[in-house]
Amino acid sequence: MKETIEKILAELNELKCSTQKEVEEARVRFLGKKGEITALFEEFRTVPSEMKREFGKTLNELKKQATSKIEELKSTITDKETASAPKQDLSMPGDPIALGSRHPVSIVRQEIVDIFRKFGYDVAEGPEIEDDWHVFEALNFPPNHPAREMQDTFFVSNGHLNPLLLRTHTSSVQVRTMETQPLPIRVICPGRVFRNEAISARAHCIFHQVEGLYIDKNVSFADLKQAILLFAREMFGADTEIRMRPSYFPFTEPSAEVDVSCNICKGKGCNICKGTGWLEIMGCGMVDPNVLEASGIDSKQYSGFAFGMGVERIAMLKWQVNDLRHYFENDLRFLSEFSTATEV
Ligand code: DAH
Repeated sequence: MKETIEKILAELNELKCSTQKEVEEARVRFLGKKGEITALFEEFRTVPSEMKREFGKTLNELKKQATSKIEELKSTITDKETASAPKQDLSMPGDPIALGSRHPVSIVRQEIVDIFRKFGYDVAEGPEIEDDWHVFEALNFPPNHPAREMQDTFFVSNGHLNPLLLRTHTSSVQVRTMETQPLPIRVICPGRVFRNEAISARAHCIFHQVEGLYIDKNVSFADLKQAILLFAREMFGADTEIRMRPSYFPFTEPSAEVDVSCNICKGKGCNICKGTGWLEIMGCGMVDPNVLEASGIDSKQYSGFAFGMGVERIAMLKWQVNDLRHYFENDLRFLSEFSTATEV
């Protein structure tokens, strides 16, 4: 064993390498798992105990020397390949980082929120999983009333006395606000809604709405009309006109559907407005007294208006997108079209 140690020591002293590859080979030869020095450590186990002390010291010394020799060679050798490798040009511009952009639905939702914030509306949010009371009952949809069929509902738990469901409209947040906030109330409620509908160019089972609610003393239909006219002009341009058509919603009386003048053909008639010169943007009306009373508001003292619009619908009109599905498929070719529409 002593001789082997001396032989290795001599070899280490003589050791010369000219490439990093050779250094690595030497490391493996002496210190690798099956290396010569490693083998000596194995052999050390068989050394009689009275000699262990001396051999142990020598062996450790040998390992130390071998390690430092290899380290020394490693740090002094510059391979030809390494030396001739092209130096990095640190003055080169870096690789651009691809920045994401906001989703078109988020952009429009924010735009709607910003417009109403300017008019003094607060923003309210509510849960997406709701109960029957907030989505239907408190909004004047009596049980088994055919109006419930207007919105095909996804039930989370059915057959219970109080089933949970995915909200079919953000009007549920109206109810939550009326139940908890002091009067007067002026809020908008943006959020995601769910309907059990077949997916097509014009319908999806998930989409976004913004609900609006204003309750105070002496709120009239004229106030509603003015608020919507101002919104439409901010959203679609200063020369936009609106018209209201009578409609029906259980929670408003009277109810109306709102159209804006087509900003593409300026009312002359085109294929976006289907030749009518008008585009439908929302439903609205005066909050039904039953709805106020269901949330504990005295309908003799207070009145209010409400409206609800689909964010995707507004986005489709704004950018003349003719298929709703584009907003849900996350195709980067479509989404990147809107990167410049994002305000920072
Ligand atoms: N909740 C209605 C829907 O989902 C939209 C709506 C219409 C909301 C009229 C309102 C309203 O607040 O007054 O179709």
